[in-house]
Amino acid sequence: MSTQDTYNYKVVRQFAIMTVVWGIVGMLVGVIIAAQLVWPDLNFGPWFTYGRLRPLHTNAVIFAFGGCALFSTSYYVVQRTCHTRLFSDGLAQFTFWGWQLIILLAAITLPLGITSGKEYAELEWPIDILITLVWVSYAIVFFGTIAKRRIQHIYVANWFFAAFILTVAILHLVNSAEIPVSLTKSYSAYAGVQDAMIQWWYGHNAVGFFLTAGFLGIMYYFIPKQAERPVYSYRLSVVHFWALIFTYMWAGPHHLHYTALPDWAQSIGMLFSLILLAPSWGGMINGIMTLSGAWHKLRSDPILKFLITSLSFYGMSTFEGPMMSIKTVNALSHYTDWTIGHVHSGALGWVAMVSIGAMYYLIPRLFGRKEMYSVSLINVHFWVSTIGIVLYIAALWIAGVMQGLMWRAVNADGTLTYSFVEAVKASHPYYEVRLLGGFIFFSGMLIMAYNVIRTVAGQRAVDDARIPAVMLAHA
Ligand code: HEM
Ligand code: HEM
Repeated sequence: MSTQDTYNYKVVRQFAIMTVVWGIVGMLVGVIIAAQLVWPDLNFGPWFTYGRLRPLHTNAVIFAFGGCALFSTSYYVVQRTCHTRLFSDGLAQFTFWGWQLIILLAAITLPLGITSGKEYAELEWPIDILITLVWVSYAIVFFGTIAKRRIQHIYVANWFFAAFILTVAILHLVNSAEIPVSLTKSYSAYAGVQDAMIQWWYGHNAVGFFLTAGFLGIMYYFIPKQAERPVYSYRLSVVHFWALIFTYMWAGPHHLHYTALPDWAQSIGMLFSLILLAPSWGGMINGIMTLSGAWHKLRSDPILKFLITSLSFYGMSTFEGPMMSIKTVNALSHYTDWTIGHVHSGALGWVAMVSIGAMYYLIPRLFGRKEMYSVSLINVHFWVSTIGIVLYIAALWIAGVMQGLMWRAVNADGTLTYSFVEAVKASHPYYEVRLLGGFIFFSGMLIMAYNVIRTVAGQRAVDDARIPAVMLAHA
């Protein structure tokens, strides 16, 4: 059997396991910073202060947890849907070890206070160069596999993964342009409002392509697979793809309402954000309707529960986002915890849940098993996660709207009704509920870890899986 008759599962497995590991680490740091907001005495300086741990949390959950989930699933899906092995085993291994090294360097430099100060792009220039090398290798492996595919059609999930890989490359290169002054310090190549605009063009498209397009790729493969139904409308998936990627590009200025950015640019950002509701919901409906005729499976299959509930949260956050982009709404929501609630309904509800569902599908298959060690523990995990998210986001909706209203309240004589610290005090109970919700969600990850350990214990990892002859026949 030549390696060309097999799929490369090794790299898929490595990334899948690290998804669980980094999910636990990143969310633990989330719980710690949530606790610091409740008990400020937990700021152990200087390395473990909130200001240093917060970017560690965002980097760990987005790039380590989310990134490993995307690498793992995209490598799996591109092979399975192209009926061919990855383009290069060596480069794929380089992306795995390179990505882990980047995560390690982030975990060291961020607590040390080494940062370029750009949100979601904090890592300093030597690490930026390493990211570029890994990402280019990823693109070569992914597009190389597409090029050597054995069937003509390129399945829609691959379109989403391809857009994610290409766009993240461009975003990273443009936003990280910087002038090094030492090994650990650089300054952005841009200044003033241009810097802000580039940063939020990057920031919003990081949401659109890293946290959305890639995960839609996951949705388009794993929901039909787990439901054993074809995608509800393939035509809609193609419209969804082009409409989504075109619209996302222009929405960035909604992060800069009421700033020095020209007013017309802010309005364009708002307009495109409102339009974005349509493709986002088109995609959500396409995913959920894939269950047509198989709704009963939702009752008994906790993996499907994860996948479908993730889409509901996706729908919720992509309704909330366009509303928050309306300038008058943003005047209230900006700077408040409403934004943080929105972030986590997307991040926990959509990104984490769809990834967890996909991992429960993948991990047993990568270890030669039909299913996870315990299906009922997946069910427990599902309910624990859902309760955790609801507590988290409901608390911050209330806190956010309350903060916005308190900050803007004025007395008849024009003075402020509340001092800032009164709003902080009023937020405290909601921070406690958020900590509780976050902790509950985090405990769900520990249940997952136990289930994964029991699933893989004593099993031989599947490094290479034979491509079925019927698929090879397409050659
Ligand atoms: C149609 C889709 C969406 C639109 C139009 C949208 C819009 C917005 C708006 C208006 C803000 C507040 C900006 C501010 O006041 O500073 C925001 C913040 C944010 N959104 Fe969304 N959102 C969408 C979907 C999502 C999804 C699905 C996720 C996550 C998976 C997400 C993640 C974020 C993040 C991380 C921030 C905070 C950025 C920061 O200030 O650090 N968004 N979004
Ligand atoms: C146990 C789970 C989690 C907990 C307890 C948690 C907690 C937190 C806390 C306390 C903050 C800082 C909020 C603030 O500055 O007021 C934060 C920020 C953030 N978290 Fe999480 N988090 C969790 C999971 C996640 C996941 C899975 C993701 C992404 C996939 C994520 C993405 C983010 C982002 C993007 C921000 C920055 C938001 C902004 O700047 O507007 N979090 N998180």
